[in-house]
Amino acid sequence: MTAVDARPQTTTESRFPRGFRWGTATAAYQIEGAAAEDGRTPSIWDTFSRAPGRVRNGDTGDIAADHYHRMDEDVALLKGLGVTDYRFSVSWPRVQPTGRGPAVQRGLDFYRRLVDALLTAGIRPVVTLYHWDLPQELEDAGGWPQRDTAGRFAEYATIAGEALGDRVTTWTTLNEPWCAAFLGYASGVHAPGRTDPVAALRAAHHFNLAHGLAVRALRDVLPRKSEISLTLNLHAVRPLRETPADLDAVRRIDALGNRIFLDPIFHGRLPEDLIEDTASLTDWSFVHDGDLATASEPIDSLGINYYSPTVVTAVSPAPATATSGLSDPDPGHDHDHDPTGTDVPSPWPGTEERVRFVPAPGPRTAMDWPVDADGLYELLTRLRDELPRTPLMVTENGAAYDDYADPSGAVHDPERVAYLRAHLAAVHRAIAAGTRVRGYFLWSLLDNFEWAYGYSKRFGIVHVDFATQRRTVKDSARWYAAVIGRGGLA
Ligand code: FCB
Repeated sequence: MTAVDARPQTTTESRFPRGFRWGTATAAYQIEGAAAEDGRTPSIWDTFSRAPGRVRNGDTGDIAADHYHRMDEDVALLKGLGVTDYRFSVSWPRVQPTGRGPAVQRGLDFYRRLVDALLTAGIRPVVTLYHWDLPQELEDAGGWPQRDTAGRFAEYATIAGEALGDRVTTWTTLNEPWCAAFLGYASGVHAPGRTDPVAALRAAHHFNLAHGLAVRALRDVLPRKSEISLTLNLHAVRPLRETPADLDAVRRIDALGNRIFLDPIFHGRLPEDLIEDTASLTDWSFVHDGDLATASEPIDSLGINYYSPTVVTAVSPAPATATSGLSDPDPGHDHDHDPTGTDVPSPWPGTEERVRFVPAPGPRTAMDWPVDADGLYELLTRLRDELPRTPLMVTENGAAYDDYADPSGAVHDPERVAYLRAHLAAVHRAIAAGTRVRGYFLWSLLDNFEWAYGYSKRFGIVHVDFATQRRTVKDSARWYAAVIGRGGLA
């Protein structure tokens, strides 16, 4: 029998490096509310959530978690957690209402007050410029499939950089452009709800361009020490079987889900195989000379959002077995399926007849997303190998469960604690394996407007009673505070 080492694990083994950034993350439309206050105009999410049948229960972000009016209380919650960092997004239509022209000072003042409150509490602000709330007027002018939107975004980045750059040192241009492009313009389950695969591919390119233009615009106005990043929801794609056909299915999804952003942004090129795979849809002539050089403007770190892995298998393109992209047994990405329960077009243009998504095994969260922390380890170590010089941050990770306050007012969420523990352990393993992970941002601080699911899904470590806006710290928040306090897992 092999001797088992029964010594208790020393805490140093699960300690994170000194200076590790411990945070939580939120997004403007999901928490702020105050949708029509102080000059804010509608974003595509205001319009989309008002359209019948788009968001579960007809929920909107009109009030959300009322963070716009409860900012001080929420910063106090962050301080109580002991986080070092807080990631939030700026609402574009709040600071530049129509997406053009001068800034609205009242809108900017809100973010100035938030940043000041964070700094006073000893918390580093991490600003995301675009977390999906495009000013509706820009969508009316063509939205992200339209090249001009990238230029508009750079102008908005200048406004935000000038207003906050003296106090905000970490900037993220875009949050999850994959979701914004393919769920917004191909499957239509997110705003603006269009179902045009070519528009989605154009949008993806314009996101890359907008990112690069914004990096340049920010460098022009920010102090030198500022850190500029972007956040991708990279897909941890696995084959159902290790067959050449299934590995080819992986390659296709990796191209359309990951390399479509990684290659332009880090290598100034488009994946050749992506161009081939989508040749029946587009010749990519919307990519102009110089665009890829712009997209690859150097950045200081990469943010990764991870929730669950993706498993794929090959299907033969023969008509009898071809899938239409409708009714896949698994949606293929965290937000893919239509929470209103109807079939939607595929968000994976050009792969519909070749790739089938297969449910990953294991326990599931209230989103029906599989719990699998190894996927996070796989992604981080892949990036260690592919982008060895780029520091990484996990800018979102977390889980929804059906939490409720018990009669004593406590919210017990042991499943969330288990999820977080497993994923933090995966981050720790990746660091031990030589990956440069600089921080971890838990999604999310507060229960909030979960996009097409409205308020039906709770991701917060702080419970929000949306009728009273009362905040209640969940067990997971206490657990996270203890992890931060000791600098690692027990
Ligand atoms: C991510 C989004 C975030 C939230 C989580 C659950 O894709 O960036 O706003 O919806 O999923």
